[in-house]
Amino acid sequence: MIEQTGRLPRHIAIIMDGNGRWAGRRGEPRAVGHQAGAGRVRDITTACARKGIEYLTLYALSAENYIRRPAPEIDALMELLRQYTIDERPTLMENDIRFRIIGRLEELPAGVIEECRNTERLTAGNNSRNLSIAVNYGGRAEIADAARALAAKARAGMLNPDEIDEEMVGRHVYTAGMPDVDLLIRTAGEHRISNFLLWQAWYAELYITDVLWPDFDEEELDRAIRDYTRRTRKFGAVVNDSEGHKG
Ligand code: FPP
Repeated sequence: MIEQTGRLPRHIAIIMDGNGRWAGRRGEPRAVGHQAGAGRVRDITTACARKGIEYLTLYALSAENYIRRPAPEIDALMELLRQYTIDERPTLMENDIRFRIIGRLEELPAGVIEECRNTERLTAGNNSRNLSIAVNYGGRAEIADAARALAAKARAGMLNPDEIDEEMVGRHVYTAGMPDVDLLIRTAGEHRISNFLLWQAWYAELYITDVLWPDFDEEELDRAIRDYTRRTRKFGAVVNDSEGHKG
């Protein structure tokens, strides 16, 4: 499968990094950076919807962040998320965006779970765009959860272990039913995957920018998409280029 993209990615995933640095440069507490970052989530979600990006998945909080960051920062992020899921309902409905949380939501505070579930229910019938927010999310935990679900089905006699293949595993990860990630963007310059969408990003095109997340605007998004449209995706095949590069 060789694909000269030349067209929009169907699924964009973003590691939203740099809120803390953005705040630090202004002499503000980190929570102010997260607040500004939440504003960008709004802008980029509607920009993607307008441009025809069908799936947008945003990394708001890793499972490692959730246990390792100071409690006041996590509390502030949880409140921001709770408020965001309430405030965004009209925008999600107007833009026909289905909202989902991926990650171990059940470990979060009850008020956050409730509002996230309410927004998921409200938007469940929307089907032209999809916004997934990864919270208390870990790629390895996701694969372990899928393995556990498959093992439970095998034990219950619902499936034969010999039949487990990649397609079946894909139906048991948190993003079941969604396409794999085409374009994975990371802001704030680090060159790491950080346990994000390990399964889904197998052949994702990477785009790393030094721009901090609170400064990542529609122009930056366009730059990333333009860069993607110029790439050749090889999915492991050989392409006849003069240097004999392999995908
Ligand atoms: C990374 O920046 C960012 C986070 C850990 C949180 C991301 C959260 C938001 C963008 C806002 C809340 C989200 C929603 C959906 C309302 P960092 O703090 O690690 O920055 P640093 O590396 O510069 O310290």
